[in-house]
Amino acid sequence: MKSKIVLETATRACGILLVLCAALAAAQQTDVLRQYRFEQADGGYRLTLHEIPMPAPGAGEVVVRVRAVSLNRRDIYMLDDQYGAPGTAAGSVPLSDGAGEVIAVGPGVSRFAVGDRVAGIFFEKWIDGAPGEGWHASARGGSPGGMLSEVIVSSEQSLVGIPAHLTYEEAATLPCAGVTAWVSLFKRGRLQPGEWVLLEGTGGVSVFGLIFAHAAGARPIITSSSDEKLARAIDLGAVGTVNYRKNPDWQKEVRAITGGAGVSQVLEVGGRDTLPKALEALAPGGHIALIGGLTGFVTEMPVGPLMWANATASGIYVGSRADFEAMNAFIGEHGIRPLVDKVFDFEQAAEAFAAMDAGEFMGKIVIRL
Ligand SMILES: NC(=O)c1ccc[n+]([C@@H]2O[C@H](COP(=O)([O-])OP(=O)(O)OC[C@H]3O[C@@H](n4cnc5c(N)ncnc54)[C@H](OP(=O)(O)O)[C@@H]3O)[C@@H](O)[C@H]2O)c1
Repeated sequence: MKSKIVLETATRACGILLVLCAALAAAQQTDVLRQYRFEQADGGYRLTLHEIPMPAPGAGEVVVRVRAVSLNRRDIYMLDDQYGAPGTAAGSVPLSDGAGEVIAVGPGVSRFAVGDRVAGIFFEKWIDGAPGEGWHASARGGSPGGMLSEVIVSSEQSLVGIPAHLTYEEAATLPCAGVTAWVSLFKRGRLQPGEWVLLEGTGGVSVFGLIFAHAAGARPIITSSSDEKLARAIDLGAVGTVNYRKNPDWQKEVRAITGGAGVSQVLEVGGRDTLPKALEALAPGGHIALIGGLTGFVTEMPVGPLMWANATASGIYVGSRADFEAMNAFIGEHGIRPLVDKVFDFEQAAEAFAAMDAGEFMGKIVIRL
């Protein structure tokens, strides 16, 4: 590994001397790096560590030295083989979200140069506008494009630059949870200052929703099973908090906090058990972003409460590269920092998954590489 570090340092230092960089990149091909893969075990998967040679970029591709990755609930579903058709993730690289540094560029690359700080987009083939052909299958994680790898090769089109004020660990939290919350609130919900926003629980999407809503001058209300997490949420800008474990009719408390008016926006991550209650908390003309299934995914949409409230529901599945870039501009403008609650080393990847599975965190769990 020592030779790799020396070569990487040299690669960074060479700046715009692309010819020299290309020579160094070629030399790096003899080097060995590590990546995790899902291996089938006990009806689900376990993480196994593999050695891979330093890849070379093809035309339009870049090599990224991954510096940090983050976990989403989807990664736990995948580990349990509960995501997509059974067995589809076998042999693939886990995790959709990661950030790192460009260490080599292939012919024709124009968006990035060696040394640039980048993050992978969630759908490698969803660039802008409505999703096109092949977008669904291009989701990173549980695929060859997964981020739990010391290096990845990516199309330059499937990366974005990261906000300058963020560390790699912070930037690694953005691609799935960040973009999902941003699209839900601003693109689909058209959030306005002063609006009441309901966030369910203190996981990745909800805490991004809290931070973004606060930055936009809205009034976030957040629920949690933990009073300690609710106290931390107030520090992040929550103006109302409800413990949903102590108060099973939490929707009534949410409505009471709004003075009876109801919330204008909901990031609905709970699914089966929370959707009916969230609809009870929704104000007339409000917007509910249908995102998740923490209590089980909803199979039938209750149309009546939506019609009676003259409300709008949006199905959300992360977003495009353009959405990611718009979110990054917002993050830069407001100096926003994601909440990174726990950081694990690369060798502790299995522990990071276990912490996520146990709910022992608020906001995001990160692995540094
Ligand atoms: N459609 C999309 O584009 C998209 C994108 C991202 C995520 N998702 C989905 O959205 C959901 C959330 O994802 P995530 O990654 O943000 O999850 P996460 O970080 O794992 O969130 C975990 C937290 O959810 C909270 N929670 C659990 N059960 C709850 C309940 N009954 N009511 C309220 N909160 C509850 C808990 O908060 P407390 O500890 O505070 O109680 C828990 O710590 C998942 O189902 C995921 O698959 C969908």
